[in-house]
Amino acid sequence: MLTIVKHPLIETKLSILRDEETKTKEFRESLDEIASLMCFEVFKDLKTYESDQKFKTPTGVELNRIKLENKIVLAPILRAGIGMVDGIKKMLPTARIGHIGLYRDEKTLKPHEYYFKLPVVNNPLVLVVDPMLATGGSALAAIDAIRKRGYNNIRLMCLVGTPEGVKTIEDKYPDLPIYLAALDERLNENGYIIPGLGDAGDRIFGTK
Ligand code: PRP
Ligand code: URA
Repeated sequence: MLTIVKHPLIETKLSILRDEETKTKEFRESLDEIASLMCFEVFKDLKTYESDQKFKTPTGVELNRIKLENKIVLAPILRAGIGMVDGIKKMLPTARIGHIGLYRDEKTLKPHEYYFKLPVVNNPLVLVVDPMLATGGSALAAIDAIRKRGYNNIRLMCLVGTPEGVKTIEDKYPDLPIYLAALDERLNENGYIIPGLGDAGDRIFGTK
C-alpha cells in the first residue's frame, strides 16, 4: 500500500532538505511546505457529507456546509515528526493531535517508547507522521502502540523511506497505507538513509 507522492514542488523542496548546507530556518520551512503538499494525496479519498449548517453565497444561493466524515488525529513521532505537524495543520486546522515519544538506540537501532498520548476520539483516522522511515522500527512500534489502544484506521506519512523500512511495515500490516515523498536507496551501516538528509531531528531543532 505504498504511494510515492511525486510532484515537482515536492521534489524541489526535498532537494533543499537533502543539502547539508541548508540552515535550520529554510529546513523547517521546506519541511512544513512538503507536509502541506503531501496532504493533497494522503487525504484525497476522504469522504465528505452535506451538514445541516446552511449558508448563503454572495449570489444568494443557499447551500449546506460540506464537512469531512472522518475525525482526523495526527500522531507525530517525537521528535522529528513534530516538524511536519504545522504543515498538516494548515490543511486540517481542526485535527486533534497526539504525541508518540520514541527514540532509536544508536547501537541496536531498536526503538524505545518514552511517551504516548493520543486524544480519545470515536473511530478516527490516525495519521502517524515522521520524516524518516529508516529500518521502520520506530513507525512499526508507533503503529503497534496505536492499535493496542483500539484504533485501527491508521495511515503512515513520511518524507524519505527505504525499501527495508517499507518492508518492515508491509510484512506486519500489508493493508496500511504508506505515503512517502521519496523512496531512497538503502541504509548505511549506522542505520542512516542513503542519500537521505541526515538526522532529521537534529536538523529541525538545531541540536547539532
Ligand atoms: C529518527 C526518526 C525516526 C527514526 C527512524 O528518530 O525521526 O523516528 O529515527 O528510524 P527507524 O525507522 O530506523 O526506526 P530518532 O530516534 O533519531 O529520534 P529523534 O527524532 O528524537 O531525533
Ligand atoms: N533517522 C534520521 O533522522 N535519519 C536517518 O537517516 C535515519 C534515521
